[in-house]
Amino acid sequence: MRTRTTIGAADTGAVVGFVDVAGARRRFVGAAGCVVLALPVLIAASSTILAQTVPQYGDDVHLGVASCASSTCHGAVDPLDGTTVLQNEFATWQKRDKHADAYNLLFDDLSQRIARNLGLDDASTADICLDCHADNVPPERRGPRFQLSDGVGCEACHGGSERWIGPHTGGERTADDGGRAQHEENLALGLYPTSDPAARAELCLSCHIGDETKLATHRIMGAGHPRLSFELDTFTAIEPAHYRVDDDYIERKGEPNGAEVWAIGQAEALEQVLDLVVSRKYGQTGLFPELFFFDCHACHKPMSAARWQERASLGLGPGVVRFNDANLIMLRIAAEAVDPALAKTIAQRGRALHKASQQGAKAWRDAAAALREATAEAIATFERTTFDEPIMRRILDGLVQEGVRGEYVDYVAAEQTTMAISTVVEAMSAEGDLSDAEYGRFEQIMNDLYAAVAKDEQYRPSVHLKALKRIATSGS
Ligand code: HEC
Ligand code: HEC
Ligand code: HEC
Ligand code: HEC
Repeated sequence: MRTRTTIGAADTGAVVGFVDVAGARRRFVGAAGCVVLALPVLIAASSTILAQTVPQYGDDVHLGVASCASSTCHGAVDPLDGTTVLQNEFATWQKRDKHADAYNLLFDDLSQRIARNLGLDDASTADICLDCHADNVPPERRGPRFQLSDGVGCEACHGGSERWIGPHTGGERTADDGGRAQHEENLALGLYPTSDPAARAELCLSCHIGDETKLATHRIMGAGHPRLSFELDTFTAIEPAHYRVDDDYIERKGEPNGAEVWAIGQAEALEQVLDLVVSRKYGQTGLFPELFFFDCHACHKPMSAARWQERASLGLGPGVVRFNDANLIMLRIAAEAVDPALAKTIAQRGRALHKASQQGAKAWRDAAAALREATAEAIATFERTTFDEPIMRRILDGLVQEGVRGEYVDYVAAEQTTMAISTVVEAMSAEGDLSDAEYGRFEQIMNDLYAAVAKDEQYRPSVHLKALKRIATSGS
């Protein structure tokens, strides 16, 4: 068993490079960085995950990043040995994590322009910006050391620390094993379960897609906001990770599997969008529905592109505004590898949603509700499943086959597929399922796939497909 080199990349010396090429997220991992673990037994994923509200909407007071950052807590300069956690999380976050800068960028030219176009006084004081670019809890939930300027700080993800910081820093606690019981006690006191894939997805997606309270609507995009794209496992790795999956991590939290994180992330993303589709606020917004739900590039591409071709899963003719179904395609592929009957339901309901988008508001919302039920079932199914080598190989194969069938004519699907392939390859490598030679071949193919999706407006499906087909012939 090998740990994923991507996890724990933060200042731990693992051989990892993440390069941001023209807006595309890519990650390369040197196989040499893999660490062999001596742990003999595989511990099941965390048992007691408490249902929790995303930190922004919880009841706990947020004490501020300064409360976490002392040198004896999480403010060490370098990772410490012999402790359960790295303790240099603050340095990683402050120096390398874009979340630390999320508030500051509300003062830059682009933000000021977006604000002006929207008729806002100032992006740095507007809740619609702060809700995603800072830990914008209401004033009564801000402790004395809380600062909005910390941006997306520790407690925006880990939960207001009011109740857990005491026991957590060595005060009175019942469990004192330094391990799982202690971690579960923290969870009971309001620590957000970030290690649980579904809970993590809900957390990240509340900002990386948005929810009913905060959404980067087409109006906000139209004012100049960049398009959002997200894949849970990739984004967890490139945040970058400020934790290391080692023996004691696995003891406390279970061993993460990237393919499972990916699959659950896809189901959660689709669910989040479908919730918005059926919501009163965004479900019906005048003559045109909220354009956020639709494929941006269905409208935003040159007319001369002449790219249209039939897609089996869509069942729509040319010249139609399409629901952005990248997450739906990914979910179908994940389900196919795990539970083909479920995949069939998802495919049918997905097609029905596309069809309903041409019929009217009620048909559209009903179809969204039906598909949403299937996403909930998919999440439960994935949580029960061990994503072993045969499943991961089926996913990889599915990702390639969908391309061959012409499902990636749209940019968003190609972008998601590229992140998906890298995630599954990483997960297989972490499990020791790939030989060095196989891994090396994938690295070359990944380069070409990432290059093909580097710029959305220059995406050419044929170039992407050519790279994709090499996976089919590379013996995996
Ligand atoms: C639903 C959450 C959400 C809302 C609402 C939102 N943003 Fe963002 N914003 C994001 C995310 C997430 C990113 C990062 C996108 C990425 O790189 O994938 C981002 C990126 C940006 C960027 C580009 C940053 C860069 O590094 O290039 C700017 C500028 C920005 N937002 C300004 C604003 C302003 C101004 C507002 C208010 C009008 C706003 N945002 C509202 C979530 C949001
Ligand atoms: C964008 C969300 C996000 C922010 C911001 C964030 N974290 Fe994390 N953190 C995570 C995720 C995801 C994990 C990995 C899952 C897990 O182990 O719970 C994690 C893991 C951890 C761990 C667990 C390590 C282990 O071995 O169990 C610690 C400690 C930690 N973070 C501290 C911090 C501190 C301190 C800050 C602020 C300086 C911070 N985090 C900011 C998301 C975040
Ligand atoms: C409170 C809102 C919020 C939450 C919660 C949140 N993010 Fe973000 N995230 C943002 C914003 C805003 C940005 C853009 C910051 C910037 O560009 O400076 C961002 C940027 C990122 C980036 C950098 C993207 C790029 O283009 O380089 C990654 C990676 C990321 N987030 C991962 C995550 C993960 C993983 C989680 C969940 C564990 C998460 N985020 C939770 C708001 C959030
Ligand atoms: C149904 C077609 C349609 C879809 C789908 C659509 N848009 Fe638009 N978009 C438009 C129209 C129409 C305008 C207004 C153009 C104008 O004002 O000249 C626009 C304007 C914009 C602008 C401002 C361009 C400018 O000239 O300043 C941006 C940026 C933008 N959209 C981004 C997006 C993103 C991101 C998505 C996907 C989430 C998206 N759009 C989905 C039709 C669409």
